[in-house]
Amino acid sequence: MPDYYQDDLALVHDSGFAFHGNRCAPGILELLEPVRRRDGVVLELGCGSGSLTGHLLDAGHRVIATDGSPAMLARARTRLPAADLRRLVLPADRLPAVDAVVGVGHVLNYLDDEESVTRTVTAIADALRPGGVLAIDVIDLGWLDDWRNMTSLARVNEEWAVFSRPVATGRRRMVQEMTTFVRSADASWRRSDERHENVLLDVAGLVAVLERHGMTAGKRTSFGSERLPTGLFAVVGQK
Ligand SMILES: C[S@@+](CC[C@H](N)C(=O)[O-])C[C@H]1O[C@@H](n2cnc3c(N)ncnc32)[C@H](O)[C@@H]1O
Repeated sequence: MPDYYQDDLALVHDSGFAFHGNRCAPGILELLEPVRRRDGVVLELGCGSGSLTGHLLDAGHRVIATDGSPAMLARARTRLPAADLRRLVLPADRLPAVDAVVGVGHVLNYLDDEESVTRTVTAIADALRPGGVLAIDVIDLGWLDDWRNMTSLARVNEEWAVFSRPVATGRRRMVQEMTTFVRSADASWRRSDERHENVLLDVAGLVAVLERHGMTAGKRTSFGSERLPTGLFAVVGQK
């Protein structure tokens, strides 16, 4: 995994972008209700700083929350000191056997290529115990045209600023350059830069992979009654 979400972008994400996990939580909790009733274990992939994790724990779930970024995990540890947080890098690391797999914030799109995603989706299907539930969001290929027309985004507040700009995309790839400025104790601003490459995925194709591996699954426009951003779909399945 490239060095995505180092200290400053992790801080900005935690402080300014936790809303997505908050928004998706009610729908995911409803899907997970049978798992909670039987005290099953939920594996969260790409948990970031733990915005969804907090909702899962508050609802009484047993959760293993994982991410590839040490800085994101450190933020999650601050937010949720009692949580079971582990570094798990996809697609290389083995997934534990669990009763549910969840993820928000398109972690699968961060993998290098479709082959890595297929490997990971297969590993998810294998890791789920019978009756297990999957709920994960994925950016679909269909978003490519909107992405090409996208302009730069900026968010600025007293403590930090983030600027993100799309750069050249391949057929199934979107690349963003992100610059953060974080205010230091002496009131100076520290600049950091990251380049994020996302592979756009044929979500219907991922559903087919899950079905070939013993699951029933579907591509949905949301987990529950929330509205997902354009291009993002929920993949919901059961083993
Ligand atoms: C857009 S963030 C979403 C974080 C969090 N779920 C949320 O919604 O706030 C994507 C997350 O995926 C993680 N990630 C990216 N590539 C990964 C990989 N190969 N293995 C594990 N985690 C990865 C990043 O570190 C980051 O925390």
